[in-house]
Amino acid sequence: MKNIVLTGFMASGKSSVGKNLASKLNMKFIDTDSLIEKKLSKKITEIFKENGEQYFRQQETKVIEEVAAFTSCIISCGGGVVLNNYNIELLRKNGIIVNLYASAQEVYKRISNNKDRPLLQDTSVEKIQKLMDYRKPFYENCDICIETDDLSVEKITDLIVSKISVF
Ligand code: S3P
Repeated sequence: MKNIVLTGFMASGKSSVGKNLASKLNMKFIDTDSLIEKKLSKKITEIFKENGEQYFRQQETKVIEEVAAFTSCIISCGGGVVLNNYNIELLRKNGIIVNLYASAQEVYKRISNNKDRPLLQDTSVEKIQKLMDYRKPFYENCDICIETDDLSVEKITDLIVSKISVF
């Protein structure tokens, strides 16, 4: 079976939905950020601070090269994976690309007081919206798009299950 690849802006629910989907479909759950942290024995925030974003993106692509070769996995991607077309081309070979969309207001609500996202420190709804607008065409390069704002993890999972059945 093809992988199900979850993309979307930070805090769009990729990890929670991915884990739920994995248990429902009895598939393995993979999280690209966790793999990077494991490989480098460092938290994402430390990698950004000590090595910079460019280095993080290189490590991210290395992990994508590995996981894109798998099959029958749920792959939850860091929010910036889509920015490099090469990553998406690789993931598409064995996978269905699902984008989870959440509004800037909703993302802001979910991330307040969270220190784990270097790109969203001291942020605001306006700043989130600006970054989202820039990334919009990259997120739209997907097979299935789900609007998540008012939906539970369970409902989003069910929607994905019904939509992947046509692939
Ligand atoms: C990033 C998203 C983060 C993480 C890193 C950069 C991004 O993952 O990869 O902080 O550029 O959108 P989540 O989307 O899981 O928060």
